[in-house]
Amino acid sequence: MLAFVVSVRPDDVEVASDALWGLGVVAVEERSTVDGGVELWTSLGDVDPATIEWPQQWPWRLVEIDETVADTWREFATPILIEPDLVVRPAWVAYDAPIGVTVLHIEPGSTFGMGDHPTTILSLRALRRLITAGCSVLDVGCGSGVLAIGACVLGAATAVGVDIAPAAVPVTEANALANGVADRVAVSTTDLEDVQGVYDIVVANILAPTLIALAPDLRRVVAPGGALVISGVLATAHAHVLEALAPLRAVATDEQDGWVAVTLR
Ligand SMILES: C[S@@+](CC[C@H](N)C(=O)[O-])C[C@H]1O[C@@H](n2cnc3c(N)ncnc32)[C@H](O)[C@@H]1O
Repeated sequence: MLAFVVSVRPDDVEVASDALWGLGVVAVEERSTVDGGVELWTSLGDVDPATIEWPQQWPWRLVEIDETVADTWREFATPILIEPDLVVRPAWVAYDAPIGVTVLHIEPGSTFGMGDHPTTILSLRALRRLITAGCSVLDVGCGSGVLAIGACVLGAATAVGVDIAPAAVPVTEANALANGVADRVAVSTTDLEDVQGVYDIVVANILAPTLIALAPDLRRVVAPGGALVISGVLATAHAHVLEALAPLRAVATDEQDGWVAVTLR
């Protein structure tokens, strides 16, 4: 397994880590270096680092590591409370759900989408408010499929997930099956520009530069009267993303731990 290792100055650790989370990683480890710098160790799964838009000021390298060591984060995973009656359960963690609590069972594999990142939590909450019985959902950058699957479990008729990471396809399919919605979730690596039709709700939990690049297609795939939920953006720096998405405009903004999800119509 290859680790993606980024070298940063101590002052840049927070913002560079945020950029890594926004790329869809499932864990980031900080290591001090002898010269007073910091290395951020993570995995990009099967995404080729050459294909991502990584800021040039933070050099990176790939390091071969032992996969069993890289997976130790699993020992510490716990059920994630999205709302008092909505929980995401890591598939390997036992959880006795109280009556009335809806549980999403998620095995992320090498994809992003364990449900514990603030942007995923905020996206699920926004989706829940928007979903009406029988609506259609498009999840752009579906990762583990947690949002597409959550949407169907919460009442959407169908959800389509797309992601540039090939691993997202088998992982989302397996998670859809585990949650009893395999017949309503379709997933592929189709580029957003090739996605046809329109959807009542479009959700995109992706880093700001990608949201801006995808903005024309994100607008195109929202049905008239539908809603777009974007997340993966920082509370203090997302005005430029909203500008790119005009004439859609923000109708709700939810914040957690410095991240926001914005609902636009
Ligand atoms: C932050 S993760 C979100 C995963 C999941 N939807 C969630 O909310 O937990 C972002 C995902 O977007 C995918 N992605 C990045 N750029 C993309 C693009 N241009 N088109 C589709 N997916 C993209 C990444 O591979 C990653 O799986």
